[in-house]
Amino acid sequence: MNFDFTETQLMIKDMAKKFAEDVLAPSAAERDEKEVFPYEAVKQMGELGLLGMMVPEQYNGAGLDTISYVLAMEEISKVDASAGVIMSVNNSLVCYGIAEWGNDFHKDKYLKELATGKKLGAFALSEPEAGSDASNQKTTAIRDGDFYILNGTKNFITNGANADAVLVMATTDKTKGVHGISAFIVDKGIPGFEVAKKERKLGIRSSDTVSLSFTDCKIPVENRIGDEGFGFKFAMKTLDGGRIGIASQALGIAQASLEAALKYSKERKAFGQYISEFQGIQFKLADMATKIEAARLLTLKSAALKDANKPYGSASAMAKLYASKVSVDAALEAIQIHGGYGYVKDYPVERYLRDAKITEIYEGTSEVQRIVIARSLLKD
Ligand code: CAA
Repeated sequence: MNFDFTETQLMIKDMAKKFAEDVLAPSAAERDEKEVFPYEAVKQMGELGLLGMMVPEQYNGAGLDTISYVLAMEEISKVDASAGVIMSVNNSLVCYGIAEWGNDFHKDKYLKELATGKKLGAFALSEPEAGSDASNQKTTAIRDGDFYILNGTKNFITNGANADAVLVMATTDKTKGVHGISAFIVDKGIPGFEVAKKERKLGIRSSDTVSLSFTDCKIPVENRIGDEGFGFKFAMKTLDGGRIGIASQALGIAQASLEAALKYSKERKAFGQYISEFQGIQFKLADMATKIEAARLLTLKSAALKDANKPYGSASAMAKLYASKVSVDAALEAIQIHGGYGYVKDYPVERYLRDAKITEIYEGTSEVQRIVIARSLLKD
């Protein structure tokens, strides 16, 4: 086992850290407060290769491995978890899905621009009645000659308001259940495509989360990814990788909480000494650091398995399950260490807690991750 990163991986980590500190940090709190999408920063992320990190260079991607992606995601999310989820969805749900299962037409027309951030992508699986129960797809795509006619509503769609291309899962044959779901690339703004409700959220408020509605949208047959009926497997396989991205986001938030707590404990005095000198505080810091390191190792292991083309679905579910819990716990401890100052907006830790919570919910709740892990344990 080798715990050393390559020079390239370290360079990517440093680049992401510098970008996050220089570009994202100055406005992160204000964008969170005002729910402002980081348009300019996202454009720059595209130019730096952060939006198509694992896409092969022939499709304008950075051609990097998943380990580099984890390192970059952690650095970006440490400063701005909203930018983290925008990056994660574009990389691991949209670009990876097309790069892995799309055809040459999809790659030429969509992937090349998605990988550079000229286009932004979204992934539309969830519906009002299909969250954890993702196969309960009510959105339909009915074949009509060279087109499918798409009707339905998707909700909680990250990047939905700003996406140029949306990967939409829809039922093409109701009689086949989970095997009757197909995946399509849908262009923004085609007739019948509407960005409906914008959600007002507890955290990651600078990312956009919306409902999308489709009314008799004509989708060319060539925009279907894979065969008819491949849509559910496509979504599940893509989410296996997506969960590595969310685990990394959770890690970034947790690390930010630890660093904020360390800093504050060395500045704040109580009972005549810095609070970092109290063993009660030291034990909290030690537990935070230990759990974060364990979460980081699980996340990197799932990335290493993916890079080695080995099965990683259960490993990525473990990474997300554990890292998201560590993230919420670390943010709570950071607030506790800050005392009353942790509860107000003068310090960033209240934002970390609000941002951390979603990592236990999206791309599969913690309960769904346990289902995935348990099924893998019991399958043999
Ligand atoms: N890879 C390949 N195939 C898979 C798979 C995987 N990871 N998981 C399931 N499948 C296949 C199964 O093998 C099965 O195929 P066969 O019938 O041919 O054997 C088929 O898919 C159905 O599988 P299940 O019976 O396991 O399906 P299920 O209905 O019991 O659901 C579930 C399982 C794990 C609960 C799944 O529904 C799930 O993951 N739910 C959560 C959905 C989710 O993560 N949503 C996130 C939305 S995207 C998002 O959040 C993005 C964002 O904004 C940040």
